[in-house]
Amino acid sequence: MKASVAETQAISFFHTHISPSAVELATQVLQSGWISEGVMVKRFESALSERLGLRNPVAVNSGTSALHLALALVGVGPGDEVILPAQTFVATGLVILMQRATPVFADIDPMTGNLAPASIAERISPRTKAVIPVHWAGYPCDMDEINELAARHGLAVVEDAAHALGATYKGRPVSSISRFTAFSFQAIKHLTTGDGGALCCLDEADARAAFSRRWFGIDRPNSRPSILGEREYDIDALGYKYHMNDLAAAVGLGNLEDFPQRLARRQQIASHYRKHLENIPGLQLLRLDDDRTHAYWLFTVLVERREDFIRKLAGNGIPASVVHLRIDHNSVFGGLRGDLSGQEAFNQCQLAIPVHEGLSAEDTHRIITTIRSGW
Ligand SMILES: Cc1ncc(COP(=O)(O)O)c(C=O)c1O
Repeated sequence: MKASVAETQAISFFHTHISPSAVELATQVLQSGWISEGVMVKRFESALSERLGLRNPVAVNSGTSALHLALALVGVGPGDEVILPAQTFVATGLVILMQRATPVFADIDPMTGNLAPASIAERISPRTKAVIPVHWAGYPCDMDEINELAARHGLAVVEDAAHALGATYKGRPVSSISRFTAFSFQAIKHLTTGDGGALCCLDEADARAAFSRRWFGIDRPNSRPSILGEREYDIDALGYKYHMNDLAAAVGLGNLEDFPQRLARRQQIASHYRKHLENIPGLQLLRLDDDRTHAYWLFTVLVERREDFIRKLAGNGIPASVVHLRIDHNSVFGGLRGDLSGQEAFNQCQLAIPVHEGLSAEDTHRIITTIRSGW
């Protein structure tokens, strides 16, 4: 007998993983009485570079802060233009406005959701200062082409890797390719600190500047309190209150312990989907080149009659979501652009199905058989 929806265990779309070590380390921090930025933030940063190969990670309080700090360090300001895709979360565009610069939307490849280098080239002007490629769903952009263009035109590249922790490009971890790379450790990301992020810097001097400007522009390790009690410092560049605190860092450090296994599980589920969801009328898989690895924060597919598909899955206790639609329509960005045909095509049919370590083999089987039975 077929189980009713009520009897079928509902599958979650995202999975917030808190490991036992995260609880233990967070408890240690709470009991220590020191919950502000301290030794745990350093330990988390060291672990990010030692275990995941991240380049000079500077821990901050969100992915948005990491992106904004990067633009501030690049010196993006009024009159400058910054190229980005519309296929992202609003944070990517808002940080450009925070610097009083102009977001310029370039088109994406509808088979990946990522910026198309040819479209970036078309939008470069004498006012362009930077480009922000977003690794949609965790799949790395064409970074060689983007960095070549950027070098030719003197642009800074700030990778928005909010979805891409653990992804690699031509054998290198994302974070070791462009001048800046921003990660997010927000609640539903595959590594969470509650809220948090990291700005990775190729250049040590950028990392030193990021360390100081994440905390008001004060060089924390090299400034000491005077006899009067306050630190002695001279702020010479605008700083922010973007530092990560020890409580968040403890959660991140604990969750990092089994991150490689959890990432591998996501990749294994995704391969299973790719094998069993091939050649289904009305559904297309995105392109996957073998020179890069996907971090699978999302498993995005292209589907016809998207709302019917969502209803069919929902009827079987399976959630599906676009997660983020294009952002250019927001009034703050000036309204919907009409010159992004790849974006338009992607926006019409992109949809993500669950991919996370909380899924059992029965769950993935149910997802596959439900989709294969049509909608
Ligand atoms: C592509 C992208 N960039 C930036 C961010 C901002 O990250 P945070 O929420 O940590 O500020 C997000 C968050 O979901 C995102 O999806």
